[in-house]
Amino acid sequence: MIRVLVLNGPNLGRLGVRQPEIYGATTHDELANHLTDTGEALGLDVEVRQTNHEGEMLDWLGEAADAEIPVVLNPAGWSHTSIAIADAVAQLDLVVEVHISNVHAREDFRSHLVVSPYATGVITGLGLGGYDLALTHIAATAELDGDPAED
Ligand code: DQA
Repeated sequence: MIRVLVLNGPNLGRLGVRQPEIYGATTHDELANHLTDTGEALGLDVEVRQTNHEGEMLDWLGEAADAEIPVVLNPAGWSHTSIAIADAVAQLDLVVEVHISNVHAREDFRSHLVVSPYATGVITGLGLGGYDLALTHIAATAELDGDPAED
């Protein structure tokens, strides 16, 4: 099974409570359980983590870089400000940035994305389903990259 880290940044631990009109009623625990199940169905060993602490996120991104683990990342508020997160993401081979809301349809400052240039791709505005799409992409990429002749 291919290991995947789903890493959620600040305030996403308050999913279900925080601005449900934007982020929905599903809690972070429910999202984590759902993504673990989605991963299993796709042949992925998914681990979901959330932190409000930038240094912890940087350590996790470094861990993913060292172990060559694909990442699904919602940098949340750091998406718009953190060069440190961008520098860490630049070290990853496969990282899909996910935003639950459409950041381009909200306040102007949310369209300024400092991490995105270093992401493999970005999904924004498709709700929590964006995470499932990101996992589907990672599973498909792993399958395409695998050499059937070696199986
Ligand atoms: C977010 C969008 C960001 O602008 C915001 O700071 C978040 C969540 C999203 O998932 O839509 O915390 O990344």
